Amino acid sequence: MEDTGIRIGLAGFGTVGSGLLQILESNRSWITKRLGAELTVKTILVRDLQKSRSSLPDADTTFTARMEDLVHDPELDIIVELIGGQDDAYRLIKNSLLAGKSVVTANKALLAEHGPELFELAAARNLGLYYEASVAGGIPIVQTLKESLAGNRIKSLTGILNGTANFILSEMTHKQLGYEQALALAQDKGYAEADPALDVDGLDAAHKLTVLIRLAYGQDYPLHELPVHGIRDVDQYDILRAKDFGYVLKLIAQVKEQSGSLQAGVFPALVRSDHMLAKVDGPFNAVLLEGNAVGPIMLYGQGAGDLPTGSAVLADIMTLVNRKAFYNNTGFLDLSMPKASILPPELTSAKHYFRFTVQDRPGVLSVLSGIMGEHNISIAQVVQKQEANGQTVPVVFLTHTAQLKDVNSAVREISGLDFIKAPTVHYRLL
Ligand code: NAP
Ligand code: HSE
Repeated sequence: MEDTGIRIGLAGFGTVGSGLLQILESNRSWITKRLGAELTVKTILVRDLQKSRSSLPDADTTFTARMEDLVHDPELDIIVELIGGQDDAYRLIKNSLLAGKSVVTANKALLAEHGPELFELAAARNLGLYYEASVAGGIPIVQTLKESLAGNRIKSLTGILNGTANFILSEMTHKQLGYEQALALAQDKGYAEADPALDVDGLDAAHKLTVLIRLAYGQDYPLHELPVHGIRDVDQYDILRAKDFGYVLKLIAQVKEQSGSLQAGVFPALVRSDHMLAKVDGPFNAVLLEGNAVGPIMLYGQGAGDLPTGSAVLADIMTLVNRKAFYNNTGFLDLSMPKASILPPELTSAKHYFRFTVQDRPGVLSVLSGIMGEHNISIAQVVQKQEANGQTVPVVFLTHTAQLKDVNSAVREISGLDFIKAPTVHYRLL
């Protein structure tokens, strides 16, 4: 009898790898029914063969610590890369493609840095390099941009793309948890990257935004040119003030198209409480898109964790098994991707939130508002909430729309004043 089984070489048996195996096990007959073939994980690559593991695969599956056992095994049809990081993951994916094997990965950091090169290699060999799980965990955003919305020009894409950062901000907002405590919880739950700095400093969201920009615009926005600000310095005080004004603080990743140029970045922003993105809490992610034909669309779901992410990895495996003629990796036919025309961040406009810590003395407010006026910044609201502690007092401003160039020069000038007693806190309004 002909063997119709598909054999997978799985690299990584951590949060996502074990989640994938759990789904393969629990949905086995359903998957076989849809594919007409059985999926089996033949070999699992890990770093430490002696590690005790809370879940174990079938007795037929073997563990290895040698990458070559995946790359050079002629029986393996698909390689699934879930080890994360850069160097080994890069070698594994590149060598697997060179060995003629299609690859599924959840590694946004690697794709952000090396995506164009690896996609060229895959296309030149007509192999699949699929990556649904790399952005927004279980949300099918890659497939949506590649196929469902392929006929649209995407005017803007605004997302909550990092589950860890969103979880931390939600815990700080709704449970008044401290930043460190909330981060430890996110790590316990398996949302955070091996190096959580990637989550809290906005880099993970930047990696994902880079991947999405390629899918939405067919252009490469180099990671190192993307303005990125994380949530490491977020203070409970600003979360509370934002709430008073009717906003919640979220880590936002955004790209907008403006006359052929792209304006993009990752930044904490005050989002109006009645905005759909304001309701996205905990490890959930969301992507709000504006297509020129379809109008607005929002996709919402779990952005991290074993089963949601495993679900996206499995979807890619099944798509690869089903499509053998042409692998649509990027959604564009060109092998190489042109560099995006980038709108300088200084020329972008938004409303802003400022908190100045000032010495409590007469005339301070008029100096601050005077400097903002000189820099074309019009003030919408001012609040001086906390009673003076005898030395300093926080003064919070919300502005009307102002250009970042003007905002930066006003903040620079204000920061040099003798009555400013702490670094200025500055957020954008969405
Ligand atoms: P993880 O829990 O840290 O597991 C990593 C696994 O890879 C472990 O089994 C580890 O082996 C193995 N490994 C690491 N480096 C290796 C190397 N150099 N050679 C061989 N094996 C190696 O990671 P994860 O959370 O599952 O994340 C995996 C990937 O998915 C990452 O790219 C991550 O960014 C991405 N991702 C994660 C999530 C999530 O919610 N966690 C969501 C979306 C995407 P040992 O078990 O022996 O240590
Ligand atoms: N560390 C990532 C996050 C995992 O928190 O969103 C999902 O990509």
